[in-house]
Amino acid sequence: MGSLDGKVAVVTGAASGIGLATVARFTAEGAHVVGIDITKPDDSDMEFALLDVRDEDQVDAVFHAVAGERGRVDAIVTAAGVAGGGPAHLVDRQEWQRVLDVNLTGTFLCAKHAIAHMLQQEPVNGERGSIVTIASVEGLEGTAGGSSYNASKGAVVILTKNLAIDYGRVGIRANAICPGFIETPMLEGVFGMPGMEQVREEIRLEHKLRRLGRPEEIAAVACFLVSRDASFVSGQAIAVDGGYTAGRDHGVTEMLGL
Ligand code: NAI
Repeated sequence: MGSLDGKVAVVTGAASGIGLATVARFTAEGAHVVGIDITKPDDSDMEFALLDVRDEDQVDAVFHAVAGERGRVDAIVTAAGVAGGGPAHLVDRQEWQRVLDVNLTGTFLCAKHAIAHMLQQEPVNGERGSIVTIASVEGLEGTAGGSSYNASKGAVVILTKNLAIDYGRVGIRANAICPGFIETPMLEGVFGMPGMEQVREEIRLEHKLRRLGRPEEIAAVACFLVSRDASFVSGQAIAVDGGYTAGRDHGVTEMLGL
């Protein structure tokens, strides 16, 4: 028996990285999963809808289709996202807007249209639905050059908390996962830029476990948050970050021989 048996879940950003791993984990746990992405997944037999999370009509239509065919929408995981940023004086308005549109407005639109269906369905075990947003440690604290990306992720954290407040009374839970740096095509794209080797190493060391994360480690927490085990967890921003946000390490214990 899987921990998500019988649940109907929609996962955005399903073609790659964290979203792709989430589809695999949810499917293995017994959920019926529909993946959404702006690009097609390679070699996958997942049920899939090709769309842009910024397009409200398309988002509305896909949730209608899922609810129509499956009868319910029990859960969404919003992993569609883009990297971006730079020091503010170098960021042009269009680039700022692109990052906010995908990361924040895309999350809002998917939550909005999922909730519209959750509100109409009967609760199962006292619950109408679970919303899991993928924010970032960069939505919890600043990062050099983060600007638009950090702003979008900080906003996703607060939006998620607001969803938890507004819809808790009708049995909808909402939580944000704030991953540390996870080995995905997005991160490889950033680290692949010229001169980033040293930055990659510094970032690795900032994780107290001294390694980057794997997409499966985020999918595992998304699975927990949708499962009955998390029935009393709502309104949280959960860092899954190998200790990245635990605090500073100035090397004192290392000096003492640890
Ligand atoms: P990824 O680039 O491997 O996957 C992101 C997916 O989102 C891609 O398949 C892409 O096609 C899709 N996407 C982008 N724009 C879209 C749009 N407008 N409509 C529909 N789909 C769209 O990236 P990764 O690393 O798996 O990221 C997933 C989420 O996790 C993102 O929101 C990212 O910001 C967040 N995150 C990633 C971290 C990392 O270190 N990889 C750390 C913290 C958060």
